[in-house]
Amino acid sequence: MSMPVFESALTRMPRLGFGTWPMQGAACQAAVESAIGLGYRHIDTAEMYGNEAAVGAALNASGVARGDLYLTTKVWWDKPDGTSFRRAFEACLKRLNQPYVDLLLVHWPSPGLRLESVLQAQAALREQGLARAVGVANFPLGLLRRAVAAEIVPIACLQVEHHVYLDQQRLLDYVTPRDIVLTSYTPVAKGEVMADKVIQGIAAKHGATPVQVALAYLLAKPGVAAIPKAQSPARQQENLGAVKLRLDAADLAALAALRKDHRMVAPGFAPDWAA
Ligand SMILES: NC(=O)c1ccc[n+]([C@@H]2O[C@H](COP(=O)([O-])OP(=O)(O)OC[C@H]3O[C@@H](n4cnc5c(N)ncnc54)[C@H](OP(=O)(O)O)[C@@H]3O)[C@@H](O)[C@H]2O)c1
Repeated sequence: MSMPVFESALTRMPRLGFGTWPMQGAACQAAVESAIGLGYRHIDTAEMYGNEAAVGAALNASGVARGDLYLTTKVWWDKPDGTSFRRAFEACLKRLNQPYVDLLLVHWPSPGLRLESVLQAQAALREQGLARAVGVANFPLGLLRRAVAAEIVPIACLQVEHHVYLDQQRLLDYVTPRDIVLTSYTPVAKGEVMADKVIQGIAAKHGATPVQVALAYLLAKPGVAAIPKAQSPARQQENLGAVKLRLDAADLAALAALRKDHRMVAPGFAPDWAA
């Protein structure tokens, strides 16, 4: 299997990664070890997931050189300024038991976010080599524009919910020409795609599965990465198979015609997405 890679001046991200929320402890470590054994090289975690120690232990036990793995973590939104952000990230690195992460994201914009202060902390961590690249998650377009326009640190990645039922075209139109990778979370719509007749039809045509079709739809967009979570090795392997699936124009048109307003992650602290 040859893994497609997103490559910019700022980062080099395997485009099919592995999500780890809400796995915990030994089960999480086993799942990540299995994923790496099957060929995943991009692992997504966060301070809030409570599994960084397990994820780091899996990386260290994998036998794969650290330089061949891509690790993302995120600092939770209750750290709205640079000082608390840096302190939290230093604790992430300790739990991960890693010398650095490949990507450090602001997990959600806090209502009290001091954007410039957090960006300055990210810039300093990047200069120190503790975070090879930085970015943001769950930022609406207006806030992302502000982060980029501040020119404090180059934004390598925007991580947001994106799948066949939520297209994020406004964000894609902004990030794609700027070489900012859009990492899709909840990329298989938490498995909802399995029951979709249109997706089932496309899958049958290719001898694939609906989940593979959902992932191939995202991977067909060159500036997009996806981080599906799957506990079992069988599902992890199935999802990797999406890399080989080539959807044709008719498939992509049918998928484009599906509803695109189905947001599945909408916590009370979420920003105004239209902002
Ligand atoms: N930045 C953020 O705010 C944010 C928010 C949400 C998620 N994320 C990240 O994105 C990752 C993925 O998102 P997600 O976990 O919400 O959603 P997801 O990856 O779309 O869906 C995960 C669910 O789909 C199931 N599934 C996966 N592959 C399958 C397959 N081949 N066949 C059948 N079912 C399958 C999983 O089953 P099993 O239960 O068997 O594993 C799990 O129940 C998270 O793990 C996390 O790392 C980030």
